[in-house]
Order: sequence, then structure tokens, then C-alpha cells
Amino acid sequence: MRLISLLHLAAVLSGGNANPLGRDAMVVHESGAVPSGFSHAGPVSPSQEITLRIALVQSDIAGLQEKTYAVSDPANALYRQHLTPEEVAEYVKPSSETISAVNEWLSGNDIAAKSISPAGDMLQISLSVSKADELLATQFSLFTHVASGTTNIRTLAYSVPASVQNHIQFVHPTIAFVPPLTSGPGFTVVHRKREATPTARSSDEVPESCANSVTPACLQALYGFPTAKATNSAANILAVSGYIDQWANSDDLAEFLSIFLPELEGSSFNLQTLDGGENIQTLSEAGDEADFDVEYAIGMAPGVPVTFISVGDDFFDDAGGFLDTVNFILAEPAATRPTVLTTSYGFNEDELPASVLVEMCNAYMQLGAIGISVLFASGDGGVSGLQPTECTTFVPSAPGGCPFVTSVGGTTGVPPEVGASLSGGGFSNVFTTPEYQIGDVAAYLASIGNEYSGLYNVSGRGLPDVSAQAIDVEFIWMGELFFFTGTSCSTPIFASMVSLLNDRLIAAGKPVLGFLNPFLYSPLGRAALTDITVGNNPGCGTDGFFARTGWDPVTGLGTPNFELLLAAVGL
Ligand SMILES: *[C@@H]1O[C@H](CO)[C@@H](O)[C@H](O)[C@H]1NC(C)=O
Repeated sequence: MRLISLLHLAAVLSGGNANPLGRDAMVVHESGAVPSGFSHAGPVSPSQEITLRIALVQSDIAGLQEKTYAVSDPANALYRQHLTPEEVAEYVKPSSETISAVNEWLSGNDIAAKSISPAGDMLQISLSVSKADELLATQFSLFTHVASGTTNIRTLAYSVPASVQNHIQFVHPTIAFVPPLTSGPGFTVVHRKREATPTARSSDEVPESCANSVTPACLQALYGFPTAKATNSAANILAVSGYIDQWANSDDLAEFLSIFLPELEGSSFNLQTLDGGENIQTLSEAGDEADFDVEYAIGMAPGVPVTFISVGDDFFDDAGGFLDTVNFILAEPAATRPTVLTTSYGFNEDELPASVLVEMCNAYMQLGAIGISVLFASGDGGVSGLQPTECTTFVPSAPGGCPFVTSVGGTTGVPPEVGASLSGGGFSNVFTTPEYQIGDVAAYLASIGNEYSGLYNVSGRGLPDVSAQAIDVEFIWMGELFFFTGTSCSTPIFASMVSLLNDRLIAAGKPVLGFLNPFLYSPLGRAALTDITVGNNPGCGTDGFFARTGWDPVTGLGTPNFELLLAAVGL
């Protein structure tokens, strides 16, 4: 009842009452419903201060898309001739009409906005709830995420003047109901204390113990990771992003290196923070995800400088944190800007409005355009997305469904590796199958015929793209040895190899890889990956998809091989 009356009120208000300029009707810009798991929790104090982001329409996103594909496609003459951030900004900056329409709207309401992206396509405003209600002809109120008890200020619909509607992508957070990321990554974590078993080093034989317990030595043997240190450290930074107060602990890193990679003892990471992020070093506050990611980034990409980007909660909205991370990197000087970004946090695609997913995807495209490889974990719930959940249709994860992200799934075992049953995989409901994987997706779908018909989107972008070890990977957390499990393991492992390829490319006077997928799916790229043909990813009461020869939505194109990838990039 209460929800129905709320919607009704929003509809009434959008009828034109709250139009300060009096010449331009308010039109509903976005609307939604309260998803299951959330409940209305009453009114919010009208004087409460809130911060909103206004995403403006970018002047030529299609042009940037074309350019990004051109510089990322090995078959294109422009391959790896990446853009500068300034060139990217030319495509994404709003038009002067957009800027003046939005400025007129905001200043007419006595609201001052500040730009929070280098190109000026994202504005931020802080205002009271009553003022926001008036500005957007809506009624914000409180909603609780039942499982966690977290309460946020949201609405079910909002309006903007007709004169600005075509200039705004969205105002956020308004209609987005995003469950908070729990236990850090939102990915499966299996903690089992055990004795250290450093595996014998061997470059050509994979020790039997790697079937049950994965160490850096296992990954060196499995994937051919070099042990020689990278040489071009200054120009080649591997960034690990961390969220929700998961902190990377230096003592845990030191302990990890002393056990598994003594030759790297003394290696450390740089810290960058945004949105009030911290990296508190109390051992009992170490984050499992942050520790794992930093330990494996430093351990598997020896000599590559690693930056831990700790993103705080100042703007308490997970998607905002992801967008802020991109804008932070775009604004960075070349000397501290990464060439690879690895992230083991994510969402289910249905948790975010499509408008926000598209904005995020366009943000990752900007990173790709300037030569940054962006990798995200594909999730740990098989076809049910991030985590095992009850579902009636398959749940694709985000932002891996963005075609400009490299989505990393999970494998396990010694050769032949098999797809890990937790490996998140499927098809986006928001992004269509990109050109680079059209043949692969078509071949896969043809192979399964009508199976699961109606449970997944036949025209969606398929994920993951690639995969790596995901089960029982040893790491140090809070001073103790644990196993970590999930595509959270696979992602920094794969990202480390990309960083090492970049190091060799730079040494040879060549540009770095940037947006990876068109290369990975090219004949050269796919030949450098080990196709995983066994395994399935159950979920939603089904056996999930099955791996097969060629790309599949369990393990993607397969796992990396350093020597073959070096050859594939022309070295
Ligand atoms: C399937 O994906 C396409 C994009 O590829 C999207 O437009 C469509 O709405 C999706 N269908 C469903 C049922 O979500």
C-alpha cells in the first residue's frame, strides 16, 4: 500500500507543480520498483543533506567507441595507437547546449554543481532532501536492504524538465537499489588455516600438489609466468582497486613473499586513496580480498610496480565508487596512471539500472582507449551470478558484461585444467554481443540448441572472456596461511600476466596492450590461450553451462600461457 501511494505521489508531482521556471513541463526520466530484498522504511527528514551525481549526455560516445575498437584490434592499422586522456575527453565532454541547458536548470533552482570528471560529463550536487524532492519532482524516502539492515535514501521515480531530458543520462543514486557488498568482495571465500607447503619450483612440470593447493610456484609452472623481474617499472603500473574498507596489509605481504617468493622480499605497493579511502595497517583489520590481490599482483608480476587504490565510502554508493575510480585514473598524470586495472568486486547486472551500467561501461571504454587493460572477476555463483542465489533465470554479473571489460572466470586442477563450478558465466541482458565474439557466441549457442531457452539472453554479450585458477589458492591473511577461493583469485593472476606482457612490449619500444578483448579473440590471441573443455557452472537449479572446445560461458577462451602470449603480441 505504502509503495503504491508513493508512486502515485511521484506521478502527481511530475505533473508540473514543481517547475520553478514555469515554462517547461517535468517529465519522468527514470522509474523503477522496489526489488525483492528491500523494503520501504518510512520518510526521510526533509532537512537531511544528500549528494547526487548527474551524468550528462556525452558528445560523441559512438565516435569514441569506434576509435577504441580501432586502437584495440590487431587487424586495424591503428592498433595500440592509444589516445591521450585529452583526446578521450573531446569525445565524452558534453556539448555546449547540454552544459547550458543543465546549468540553467540548476541555477534556476539555486543549486551549485561541481564537475567531478575530467571531461565535465559528471556533475555533483549536494542539497537537502526537500530541495531534491522539488528539483526532481519526487519524494525521496528511506529504504532498507533487509538482509544487511543498511538503509539508503532512494525514490521510485524522478522527473526533470523537458528542456533538459535529452541532456541527462541519469541522476544517481535515485532509483538504484544495490545490495551492499558483503564480506568484501561479494565473492566466495573459503578460509582454511593450514601448514605452508611451498611447492618445488619447476618451469615445465606442474607439481601434483597444485591439484589441491595452488601456490605462486604452481602458477609459474602452469602458465609459464617468468620469475625474472620486470625491467620497465616506471611506465608500467598494475593497479589493484579495493572497496568497502578492505585494506591491504604490508606485514601480510611481507610474510607471503618470505614463504613463497623469498627473492621478492622487500617488494611493496604504492597506495592511492579516493572518496575518503584508507589503508589501515592493524593486522586484525586486513582485508582478505585486498591482501590476496596485492600479494598475487606483486608475487606473479615481479618488478612491476603495484598500486593499491583504496576507494572509501564518502559517496556511499557502490556504483559511484566504481565510476569515481575511473574518473580518478583519467585525471592522473601519466607517471602514476596504471596500464592494467584489476578488480575483484562486482554486482549482479540486475542490481543496477541499465543507465548506470551503460555509463560505467563507457567509463571502462575510456580507460581502454588510453591504453589501460581493465579486468573484472566474473562472479562465483556459476550461472546465478556473483554468488549462489535462488533464481528463476540466469543472472549475469556486472561490470563484466560490459564489452570493454575483460571478464575473468575460474578453473581448477592440474593439466588438463577444468572449469571451476563456481565460475560466473552467461550472457548480458544489457549489452549486445560485441563483434569480436559474435562467431564464438553463435557457435556456442548452436551447440546447446534449445537447452535453457528463456533462461538467458541469446543476443547478450557472453562472459567470461578468459579464466585462471580459482580454487584453494594459498595466501597470507592476518598473519596466517589461508586458502582463497573464487574468481577473485583468477583476476589478479591474469592481470599480472598482462602486466608482464606490457613490460616486455615497453622494453621492445612498443605500446602496451590496452583494451584486451579484440586481441584475445583474434586468431593469434586465442591460440595463445589454453582452451578449457571440461567443467560446468551450476546455478538457478540447473547444471549451468558446459565448457566445450572453443569459447564457452564457463571458462571463456581459456587460461594464459606466457610464452605463447609473448609470441602473439609479436615478441
Ligand atoms: C536481451 O539483451 C538485449 C541486449 O543485447 C536487450 O536489449 C534485451 O532487453 C534483453 N532481453 C531481456 C529479456 O532482458
